[in-house]
Amino acid sequence: MSTSNRTNIPNSLNEHWMPFTDNKTFKKNPRLITDAKGVYLTNHQGKKMIDASSGLFCNPLGHGRKEITEAVSKQLDKLDYCQPFNQGYGGSFELATRIAKKTPEGINRIFYTICGSTAVETAIKIAIAYHRAKGDSKRFRFVGRERGYHGMNIGATTVGGMINNVKTFASVLMPGVQHMRHTHLPEHKFVKGQPDTGVEMAEDLERIAMNFGGENIAACIVEPIAGSTGTLVPPKGYLKRIRDICDKHGILLIFDEVITGWGRTGSAFASQEFGVTPDMITMAKATTNGVIPMGVVAVKEEMYDAVLDSSKNPEGTPELFHGYTYSGIPAAVAAGLAVQDIFDKEDIFNRAKEMSPYFQDGLHSLKDLKEIVSIRGYGMMGGIEMRMKDKPGKSGFQTFKHCYDAGVNFKNTGDSLIIAPQFICEKKHIDEIIEKLRTGITNYQKS
Ligand SMILES: Cc1ncc(COP(=O)(O)O)c(C=O)c1O
Repeated sequence: MSTSNRTNIPNSLNEHWMPFTDNKTFKKNPRLITDAKGVYLTNHQGKKMIDASSGLFCNPLGHGRKEITEAVSKQLDKLDYCQPFNQGYGGSFELATRIAKKTPEGINRIFYTICGSTAVETAIKIAIAYHRAKGDSKRFRFVGRERGYHGMNIGATTVGGMINNVKTFASVLMPGVQHMRHTHLPEHKFVKGQPDTGVEMAEDLERIAMNFGGENIAACIVEPIAGSTGTLVPPKGYLKRIRDICDKHGILLIFDEVITGWGRTGSAFASQEFGVTPDMITMAKATTNGVIPMGVVAVKEEMYDAVLDSSKNPEGTPELFHGYTYSGIPAAVAAGLAVQDIFDKEDIFNRAKEMSPYFQDGLHSLKDLKEIVSIRGYGMMGGIEMRMKDKPGKSGFQTFKHCYDAGVNFKNTGDSLIIAPQFICEKKHIDEIIEKLRTGITNYQKS
């Protein structure tokens, strides 16, 4: 099939091994998306659907933004690629400055990666490099959290805590990683916003520090709101307590804001929303509105200084032996700059904040549907948890299919439906999402 004829079903679906997909089932009954505009997607049957998860939390500014397409196209015409090692071009510096203006104070050194997974992998390596720069080479342990998702490289997989992502690969995971328990507590069912209970779950970090020696732990990584597992909102005081324990033991704190970054909570970063400042922030997805892969690690200035200052390498040799062929490539940077312009021009984070209560009310209005066992949410993200049917994941996928037929698209992870509308949604779009979710879930219940 030629590229100009992409809207039909391809002649063969066999060769493409699809990621995170039940390939056998999908290929019998494919769901192909052909067009995207604003908050709507169209599939290969010409059916229009509302995008209720911003792709994979990627496109909060809506699909088909001309400003972004034009910026990328212009950039490709002028400079399509330049190698990023010991060379560069102005755009990546400009974008770093723009990003650093929005990150919490002091977290203003920007390392570009390719995606969220490589951002996490990079943060892990920077943590080790920083401690070594400070003369502390015995810290090698990392702490993650059950039900966390940090991506799919070996380091990111290891610090993550979603069982299916880990169990096949147990033999090759990174050594020295411990996990705190998650905060998916029974009393948090149908709690809107931050739960009042559960702050004590943070004491798991203290317990791990006691068992393994806080002085051996390089960093603790958490998603401020666990996204992929179905929106686990941190209990009140939980993140602050994690920060305090990290400080007590000299452990670095990494917030993985690949989902929560760039306005999803109503603030630029969840760190600002919850008033807790980590040492590093990872981001990806919305950085380019999802159109070109890009990941970012924002690092505390003093950590950057420590690594650079401690380097005894000869001139021309990197202080940090780490980087990617696609670190801050021109097309991704052009998209990133166009996105920053839209954030500012359209006051996007406030727009998300203002729409959040309406969205959360809509989400919780589905509470009466009997196969829903929990609804959680914060800002413009929410998780609807379906009652498990004989095996995990079955009810989630069946519900997804019924909702797809009802005209609302999103991602399910296991039995959780991930709902994360675009920030450009108006109330009528939120109403449409909720209405179609109700139809889809009701049809699933009848099936
Ligand atoms: C919190 C978090 N970290 C990291 C990742 C990995 O990002 P990517 O798929 O771009 O590698 C994801 C992806 O969903 C994520 O949600």
